[in-house]
Amino acid sequence: MSDRPAFAEILASVAEVEGWMTDDQARRLHDRAIELGPGARIVEIGSFRGRSLIVLAHSAADGVEIVSIDPHAGNDRGPQEIVADQDRGDDDHTVYRTNLEAAGVLERIVHIRKMSDAALDDVDGEIDLLYIDGAHRFGPARADIVDWGARVGGGGTMLIHDSFSSIGVTLALLTSMFASGEWRYLGRAGSMAEYCREHLGAGERLLNAVRQVSQLPWFVRNVVIKVLLTARLFPLTRLLGHRSRDWPY
Ligand SMILES: C[S@@+](CC[C@H](N)C(=O)[O-])C[C@H]1O[C@@H](n2cnc3c(N)ncnc32)[C@H](O)[C@@H]1O
Repeated sequence: MSDRPAFAEILASVAEVEGWMTDDQARRLHDRAIELGPGARIVEIGSFRGRSLIVLAHSAADGVEIVSIDPHAGNDRGPQEIVADQDRGDDDHTVYRTNLEAAGVLERIVHIRKMSDAALDDVDGEIDLLYIDGAHRFGPARADIVDWGARVGGGGTMLIHDSFSSIGVTLALLTSMFASGEWRYLGRAGSMAEYCREHLGAGERLLNAVRQVSQLPWFVRNVVIKVLLTARLFPLTRLLGHRSRDWPY
């Protein structure tokens, strides 16, 4: 929409906001959010300190509802931070609010400070754009995809972070999306996979499964990189084209 900031400005606005979102992934969020008109609804599961949420909020037109679901309980926060830690979660919550306020978007966000499975009744009606980046373990990741994905209307979008990168998320995709006749796989920006809600015929379904299966070599590469990073074998990760010491995402 013409009254929204340009993408470069939006990217600059989150340069100092901690989180896990590459520039390409920000572009994907931006491109899907600017397509929505007033009355549409965006739901983000897993907002952490607001990095991706600010991109969504700056990109979406006025009148688009933006819901952020994050318990800020310090659990399933980043790589190897699985166990809850309330001090860590409270700190995230404070920084999240400060970051949203500094970006000028605090007032337009509806924050539900709950685990995603406990928040299903807090959102009424269909979702147009669902971004899943909450707990990455198999059980909760699959529940987010299946239970929250069912709330996305026909033609709507689901973006899933850490696809073909996290073992839990990838197993969740394998068991819920690969053979699905309701979700078309459209590609990915790094580990951010994009799906469109639409009915697929038998032939399309097979092709859709093949397109997702073809991402598995990239998944194996990412798992190998994570093992090498954990073992501090950094030169070997560079042989696989990974220069950072962060886990691939
Ligand atoms: C990887 S971070 C999200 C990163 C964020 N999207 C960004 O751009 O930086 C994961 C977040 O999910 C939240 N989380 C963990 N378990 C959750 C659950 N069951 N439901 C919703 N959010 C959850 C954590 O509190 C954490 O803030």
